Amino acid sequence: MLAAYAAELNAEDPLQGLVIGERPEPEPADGWVSVDVRAVSLNHHDLWSLRGVGLPAERLPMILGCDAAGTDPDGNEVIVHAVIGSGSWTGDETLDPKRTLLSERHQGALAQRVAVPRRNLIPKPPELSFEHAACLPTAWLTAYRMLFTRGDVKPGQTILVQGASGGVGTALITLAAGAGVRVWATSRTEEKRALALALGADAAFEPGARLPERVDAVMETTGAATWSHSLKSLKQGGVVVISGATTGDAPPADLRRVFFLQLSVIGSTMGTRDELERLVRLVVTRRIEPAISQTLPLADARAGFEAMLAGETSGKIVFTV
Ligand SMILES: NC(=O)c1ccc[n+]([C@@H]2O[C@H](COP(=O)([O-])OP(=O)(O)OC[C@H]3O[C@@H](n4cnc5c(N)ncnc54)[C@H](OP(=O)(O)O)[C@@H]3O)[C@@H](O)[C@H]2O)c1
Repeated sequence: MLAAYAAELNAEDPLQGLVIGERPEPEPADGWVSVDVRAVSLNHHDLWSLRGVGLPAERLPMILGCDAAGTDPDGNEVIVHAVIGSGSWTGDETLDPKRTLLSERHQGALAQRVAVPRRNLIPKPPELSFEHAACLPTAWLTAYRMLFTRGDVKPGQTILVQGASGGVGTALITLAAGAGVRVWATSRTEEKRALALALGADAAFEPGARLPERVDAVMETTGAATWSHSLKSLKQGGVVVISGATTGDAPPADLRRVFFLQLSVIGSTMGTRDELERLVRLVVTRRIEPAISQTLPLADARAGFEAMLAGETSGKIVFTV
């Protein structure tokens, strides 16, 4: 079957090891099923994998991709929850110490078919296209948990989203604005700041800009490039929720600011199956359409990877199968 997979790892030039080519069909273990993938979306996680972050060389070749929507062996339309638990774990799957994401230990979703535990399937409502459904399991789920579970953001509060144009950034803006939160966003270009406004942000700023006032919470995925600005932008007792560090994970910690202003730094990763079900219901009932920057056939996946690596994003990059 056709798949996009990592054949080599290269920290400096991640696309060096990317191959779009033939891989063996999945052979589902007991309790697992093979899903016919109809649409799959790209995540920055796929670039990290090609760089060797979270993917050791001994697991190669590895089919990339976390986010699939397709049909199960009975013909039901399904969305795949990408957090693969250890089996014996009960409760919040994101806290299972042995959890992995699809494409870390088990072959991923950027393929014609993917094997996943049956319990990781949730029904895809007919109102949702396969392309929009494929945006939800990683970036949108992460944004949902950052805002509503970990950040406990409330209607009427003001938040800052650092880095508006990516998968998580566009999801954060859309979900928060829809929930009655005042949303400010930063982005590197005028065009992307206009996108933030179109998605519902109340104002958009250049990275590092002085804000009109301090905010209740900051949503961080950019890391080193924006961390100091994030802490400076918070009011006393404010909260920064962080789920990624695209530009580096060792900025100055600004510890004095953290304790003196009694700031909270809250980590967040992916989301549970229950949260994904709630997100899907929210998207359908509110008729939300996740922003998609481009849709390409899987055979042309390299162009999507190139766009993400170059930072040319305005929402999710989706591949149809
Ligand atoms: N912990 C988790 O479970 C989890 C889940 C999903 C994602 N993540 C992490 O969150 C991050 C974003 O993921 P994504 O899939 O949304 O990525 P993406 O679609 O490639 O988006 C990249 C984002 O980074 C921002 N950015 C700001 N400064 C940047 C710079 N100097 N270079 C590159 N990007 C810059 C971009 O903002 P502008 O271009 O608008 O300025 C854009 O919003 C990644 O690090 C990813 O690994 C973590």
